[in-house]
Amino acid sequence: MSDSSSPASSVFPGAVVPRPRFAEWEEGRFAPGEDLRISAPEEAIAALHRLQHGLGKRGVVVRSNVTSPEQADIVLVHPAETLPGGPEAYRLTIFPRGIRVEARTAAGWGHGVQTVLDLHAPDTRDWPLVLMVDAPEFAWRGMLLDCCRHFVPKPVICRILDGMAASKLNRFHWHLTDDQAWRIEIKRYPRLTEVGARRTDESAGRRQFYSHDDIRDIVEYATQRGIDIVPEIEMPGHATAALACYPDLGCHQVPVEVKAQWGLFPHNYNAGKDHVFEFLENVLSEVVDLFPFPYVHLGADECDKAQWRDCPDCQARIKAEGLADETALQSYFVNRIAAFLQRHGRTAIGWDEILEGEPMSGMMVQAWRDERIIKLAADRGFPVIASPRRFCYLDMALSQIDLRDVFSFDPTAGLDEASAKMVVGAEANMWTEYVDESELEHMIFPRLWGLSEVLWCGAHNLMPFDEFKARVDLLSARARVDGLQPGPALREDVAGKDRKGRTDLDEPAPGVEKLA
Ligand code: ACM
Repeated sequence: MSDSSSPASSVFPGAVVPRPRFAEWEEGRFAPGEDLRISAPEEAIAALHRLQHGLGKRGVVVRSNVTSPEQADIVLVHPAETLPGGPEAYRLTIFPRGIRVEARTAAGWGHGVQTVLDLHAPDTRDWPLVLMVDAPEFAWRGMLLDCCRHFVPKPVICRILDGMAASKLNRFHWHLTDDQAWRIEIKRYPRLTEVGARRTDESAGRRQFYSHDDIRDIVEYATQRGIDIVPEIEMPGHATAALACYPDLGCHQVPVEVKAQWGLFPHNYNAGKDHVFEFLENVLSEVVDLFPFPYVHLGADECDKAQWRDCPDCQARIKAEGLADETALQSYFVNRIAAFLQRHGRTAIGWDEILEGEPMSGMMVQAWRDERIIKLAADRGFPVIASPRRFCYLDMALSQIDLRDVFSFDPTAGLDEASAKMVVGAEANMWTEYVDESELEHMIFPRLWGLSEVLWCGAHNLMPFDEFKARVDLLSARARVDGLQPGPALREDVAGKDRKGRTDLDEPAPGVEKLA
């Protein structure tokens, strides 16, 4: 697919981020009458509703499927001829008398209607004429949101999902359990949210978690926007909140409290006890029922193995299974759960620490500690989600990582063709130790849109940064009208006043030297 030779921003006032891969602009506009008629096949109904909702918010009355496609102003249809670019591709044609969006999948139609919304001029209520053929370079385009350290209320999550959909991101990685809280209701184990859904320093008695109804609402909201959710249930470390609820899941079975501080803690699930695996499988059975998506993230990062070294149960497991050491025990743990998920039709994902042992084939690796680990995982044959701290950690202050840094990220830098193929895409990570709900949106946006541009276009097909920045400014302005609160983009915009977020980017991540 060739690049657009004429940058879209010089032709229309809207902001399409990421930039469509091919666009041919023509003189003239499509200006519909008072009500707009839209027609779509059954498979494109979610996209149709999205368009109807988006235009409705701008005061455009839309009538859907009340007419034959021939009489509609906007038609969503299957492609008349082959459409290059994979399952998410779409072709958009805006004629003087109407709009056609061709695609093969719900995702393709969803991206097409997002571009239709982006191109709509709210003042004149018309569209520029164009032929676009568009598709992403990377299939996995996402963001992690940590809802443990600080709880994130449902309306804020929905606004963030809107901000993701606005730039065609398609994976919401939802970090739901950690040392400082357990935030997902599990009906079979009510103490997880009775005791675990509150940091011990949080306002007295306030338990904050997502009920099954909340989760169903968020799943529905994300699905309508073409976003898959990847729930993360952390194990075998980052488990203090669970152990505070059920001490017999731990090695020493002494009571621990849900943590009120940040940092690393030694409380792991007991890898020697079968009832621990039974517990986790019961939890994951509810998770799988709630999330109708293909992936579950098991965490597996930053597991301090000291407790396992002096736990008789863990040592007995090592012996019985013929394992070399505690690192092999972690692989045993993770693989046993990954196999359970596989039997339930789900792919398990782990942070890059799983490479310290032998992860089972079929797992995916999320590389976070260092960009060199992307290659390491790919060369070992695992599909990789790239999230290196240096480019993707949005909990870092703007002085550490700004829009220009994110935009400079190349997920496949230095990889040969075979390894590059293993990189499915990337995620930004929004951890919330130092950021609460009041600051979240402006920490995430607009930096996240920089990642979206890289993943859609590919690092080698980017426009000059200044041009991208001008588009992002337009997108930020439009997003503000829709209720989102994007923050500043560049470190020079906050010079001296940048107090939000972490500033330890130059400290190496723990244990990375074992791998890289
Ligand atoms: C991580 O940042 N511990 C994955």
